[in-house]
Amino acid sequence: MSTAKKEYKRVTVKSLVDMKKHGEKISMLTAYDYSMAKIVDSANVDVILVGDSASNVMAGHETTLPITLDQMIYHATSVIRAVERALVVVDLPFGSYQSDSKEALRSAIRIMKESGGHAVKLEGGEEIKESVKKILKAGIPVMGHLGLTPQSIYKFGTYTVRAKEEEEAEKLIADAQLLERLGCFAIVLEKIPAALTKKVSESVSIPTIGIGGGKHADGQVLVIHDLLGMTHEFNPRFLRRYMNLYEEMGNAISQYVTDVKSQDFPNDEEQY
Ligand code: KIV
Repeated sequence: MSTAKKEYKRVTVKSLVDMKKHGEKISMLTAYDYSMAKIVDSANVDVILVGDSASNVMAGHETTLPITLDQMIYHATSVIRAVERALVVVDLPFGSYQSDSKEALRSAIRIMKESGGHAVKLEGGEEIKESVKKILKAGIPVMGHLGLTPQSIYKFGTYTVRAKEEEEAEKLIADAQLLERLGCFAIVLEKIPAALTKKVSESVSIPTIGIGGGKHADGQVLVIHDLLGMTHEFNPRFLRRYMNLYEEMGNAISQYVTDVKSQDFPNDEEQY
């Protein structure tokens, strides 16, 4: 039997379910603009998430709550222009789907129509099931998000690990099974114990994508700014930094300032 991985010219929601079936881990990263999305897509990342973490890393807000639907559509539109291979999932921002299922559908339709995104992501389980149902009924693929759901940060009070207690863990498993029954194609599991991620991943046939959920998830997601070390003040245990761009960019920019001040830049070859 060949062990070669299947090539996906264009990743679809079906490809992800296929990957889980064949034991191939799914890679997912955030992107919020054209240039970054082009690099991420060229590096063969399977799923690009236009996350509402744009509220933090692009706009400098403390939480994800302030970002608007119009702003999410702006980011998603820029990402879509760059992407040739990855599946692009767009977060429905806080306030765009919680009040009722009709508003949720209207928000999801705006994202799909105006940005060209391929799917939407919503935070929550049982409490948002009517919205999930309605969006799916309109033919829009939905990714779930359980565990630490940052849009509920003021309910939780802290960003610590969720579902350590039996009762919350059981609700999370029930929510994951519900999202699968409703027709979601994947579920993000954020900051929960690794053993619980294993249990959830074994109890649903759709892929789980972990962030701070340990190695048993069917895939992993990180915020691109964290992976590249652009955000140096954020240091959770789950984060692996592949670069220290905060320092490298700072050094490059300082060198530019020095070169301009000393009149080293531009030199004779760098002018017309
Ligand atoms: O907005 C985001 O970046 C996310 C990831 C943390 C999963 O939802």
